[in-house]
Amino acid sequence: MPATLDDVLRALSTVVSPDSGKDILRLNLVKGLTVEDGRAAFTVLLKEAPASFADAVAERCREAIRRETRADMQVDVVVEREMIALDMHDGGSAKSVQPAGVVNFVAVASGKGGVGKSTVAVNLAGALRRKGYDVGLVDADIYGPSIPLMFGAADEKPRVDARRKIVPLERHGVKLLSMGMMVDPEKAVIWRGPMVTNAIRQFLGECDWGALDYLILDLPPGTGDIQLTIVQSLALTGAVVVSTPQPVALADARKGVAMFRNVRAPVLGLVENMAWFSPPDRPEKKYYIFGQGGAAALSKELDVPLLAALPIRERLRVSGDEGTPIVFAEPEGALANLFGALADRVAREVTVRNATQPATQKVEILHTGSTRA
Ligand SMILES: Nc1ncnc2c1ncn2[C@@H]1O[C@H](COP(=O)(O)OP(=O)(O)O)[C@@H](O)[C@H]1O
Ligand SMILES: [Mg+2]
Repeated sequence: MPATLDDVLRALSTVVSPDSGKDILRLNLVKGLTVEDGRAAFTVLLKEAPASFADAVAERCREAIRRETRADMQVDVVVEREMIALDMHDGGSAKSVQPAGVVNFVAVASGKGGVGKSTVAVNLAGALRRKGYDVGLVDADIYGPSIPLMFGAADEKPRVDARRKIVPLERHGVKLLSMGMMVDPEKAVIWRGPMVTNAIRQFLGECDWGALDYLILDLPPGTGDIQLTIVQSLALTGAVVVSTPQPVALADARKGVAMFRNVRAPVLGLVENMAWFSPPDRPEKKYYIFGQGGAAALSKELDVPLLAALPIRERLRVSGDEGTPIVFAEPEGALANLFGALADRVAREVTVRNATQPATQKVEILHTGSTRA
């Protein structure tokens, strides 16, 4: 059987950069990957590496692919020693808010409020953390900031360090910051798009996130001006759109996907929340309270993966209210497993997008903050 994209990704995930100890996929250094007809071709972008090191990396990539795929694969690898990361900080307006150490920005969005967007954001962040990734979580939902509550940090304020950078809070190893910690939510509800964008940019640009694999952003619900300005002021890696199964919610999710596509931000996939209910005394029985099959149909129609379907569970609601995300409260439970599988799917989609998306396109987006492809 010919080696697949996933075989090659698995191989490249064993090639570790010595300075950070993280692999080259996780660091988003692999670009333009194609795997077809027994041939893998890609570029590795190294920052400030000596030429001898570049050769060594190329050789290690070749070895890893031959070993992992056990196939007589042709490997065309080019190592470029470009200063991509440095280019991002040459003072342009869009780039200056991008925290330098953050590899991926993943937005969690929904067309409607109350569909479980924050619940998904919190547990996705927690599940990624439990898999060993460095994770931050931004509550950008100015209308209903709920991340601090769900993470048991409701009354805490972040501190400012000696360099006047905001230091995020940390819970269960996840770094957290909420708009609600900085501005009075009652005042924020009358804000207009540009004010929110400014606040978000400050938030990202003036916060010391450190080195993160993922910064998850819990966006306000809807597809209006504010959402649009937020997604345009960041080079988003991708978006996860949450919906419940009712037709009204799905219609709004469709608008959400369209919004991201309009600004050329990849949609990583849909999450169907509150998909079914199983009574605790009859766990084998599934009641499709809000309807069945709608999210799967929408995923097909829009050609975006259905990343997860999550049941209605009282424990999930209670864990949020009590301030310990379910992935930490019941790490061996069924819900933690579902969120773990969601985290794997998101990580895989992000890796594929990063590695197969042409390098020039990514650079162009980072450079200009524009929406051109
Ligand atoms: N799958 C679920 N099962 C039970 N309760 C849920 C589920 N998803 C969300 N909830 C609850 O529904 C309410 C709204 O969820 P939330 O995540 O705050 O939605 P949003 O951020 O979209 O407004 C919260 O009380 C939350 O605990
Ligand atoms: Mg919310």
